Amino acid sequence: MKILVIHGPNLNMLGKREPETYGTLSLGEINRRIKAEASEVGMKVSILQSNSEGEIIDAVQKADYDGLIINPAAYTHTSIAIRDAIASVARPTIEVHISNVYKREEFRKRSYIAEVSQGQITGFGAESYVLALHALKNILSKG
Ligand code: DQA
Repeated sequence: MKILVIHGPNLNMLGKREPETYGTLSLGEINRRIKAEASEVGMKVSILQSNSEGEIIDAVQKADYDGLIINPAAYTHTSIAIRDAIASVARPTIEVHISNVYKREEFRKRSYIAEVSQGQITGFGAESYVLALHALKNILSKG
C-alpha cells in the first residue's frame, strides 16, 4: 500500500505558526510520527509539503499511490482546481485538518475537497494524520 501525504501552504511553519491553534510540533516532527505509524501498519508513505497550488495538483495527478491523505490548508476553502485533480485520479482520499475547522471562522466551514474525499478528519492535532492512515488502511484492505 503506497500512500501519499500532502501538506498544503503554510504548514511548513508548524511549530512557529499560531501554536495555540496548530500546536507546537514542527512539520518534521509530525512527518516522523506519520512515517513511524505507517511502517508499524505496513504502509509505504511519501510526503510532500508545498505552498504552491500547481505543485500540489501535479503531485495528485501523478497517481503513483494507492491512497491520498491531504491537508490542503487554506486551499481547502478556495481550490476547485485541487478538487478536480483529486476527482480525476479516483484514489481514496482523506481530508485532514490539525485544527477543528468547524469551531473557527465561517469561511473555514466550506471545503471543496470534502466532496471528493472518502471522509474528513479535523481537530485532533497531529494525530489527525495518524487517524487518516488507519482510515485509509481500512478502506484499501477491503479492496
Ligand atoms: C488547516 C485549517 C485551514 O483552515 C487553514 O487554512 C490551515 C490549516 C488545519 O490543518 O487546521 O492552514 O488546514
